[in-house]
Amino acid sequence: MKGHSMKQNKYDEPEFFAKYSKMGRSVGGLDEAQEWHAFRALLPDLRSKRLLDLGCGFGWHCRYARQQQARSVVGVDLSEKMLVRARATTNDPGIEYRRSAIEDIDFPGDEFEVVISSLTLHYVERFDLVCQKVYRCLAVSGAFALSVEHPMFTALAAQQWCCGLKGDRLHWPVDQYQQEGPRHTRWLADNVVKYHRTVATYVNTLIDSGFRISKLLEPEPTPEMLVEQPDLKDDCRRPTFLLIAAVKAPTR
Ligand SMILES: C[S@@+](CC[C@H](N)C(=O)[O-])C[C@H]1O[C@@H](n2cnc3c(N)ncnc32)[C@H](O)[C@@H]1O
Repeated sequence: MKGHSMKQNKYDEPEFFAKYSKMGRSVGGLDEAQEWHAFRALLPDLRSKRLLDLGCGFGWHCRYARQQQARSVVGVDLSEKMLVRARATTNDPGIEYRRSAIEDIDFPGDEFEVVISSLTLHYVERFDLVCQKVYRCLAVSGAFALSVEHPMFTALAAQQWCCGLKGDRLHWPVDQYQQEGPRHTRWLADNVVKYHRTVATYVNTLIDSGFRISKLLEPEPTPEMLVEQPDLKDDCRRPTFLLIAAVKAPTR
């Protein structure tokens, strides 16, 4: 529990949790997650792998990993409410859900072959420290796959389209892009703190921590998703997500 008070734990606030629980991805799982088709493509073959999921939430990726024959899975999350639901959704002894802030993880070296983090690291202030910890606990040639809200999306705290008089979406504003740091956003609730970083910082922090970048994606909704959810068409106008796959380079 050490250090928990330092981090915002929005997902344990009843109103926020209730709203998050109603989102498509919370009800329907990965197939409802707009970026899943791209994130899945970043993952290595998971068979026999030991996998760590940072910010596992309801545990959808943890269960997917076991379906793909991962040997063992550890899901870490700060929110007790998220973990209660994750634990209730499986009785698989191969998955362990652990309550911790990502900032506080302390796994030994060589503990995992794969580390993933889906849409969580924009809540973490020190991406460099996370990269160092992930590097340490990965086996050599191990994979790190992450997704975050895209820096074009996090640059401005408003996280909203500029609209015309009739509410028509004129354009997506990007400003204060180079000014990294906290953004007090309104997302499901007031004052949700997200940390804005540039694309260059995400990429170079990984490289400086000893990773080799193997892929960077800025996925759009698939044509099938656009048929089912026409509202998503505006998400083709600017990137919503940044996805990066990296490998622990054999030598430093
Ligand atoms: C948008 S949800 C994503 C959940 C899941 N990875 C997914 O893609 O469906 C973000 C999750 O990150 C967790 N979280 C936020 N900040 C955290 C931190 N500092 N340490 C650990 N977990 C954190 C939240 O409790 C929440 O479950």
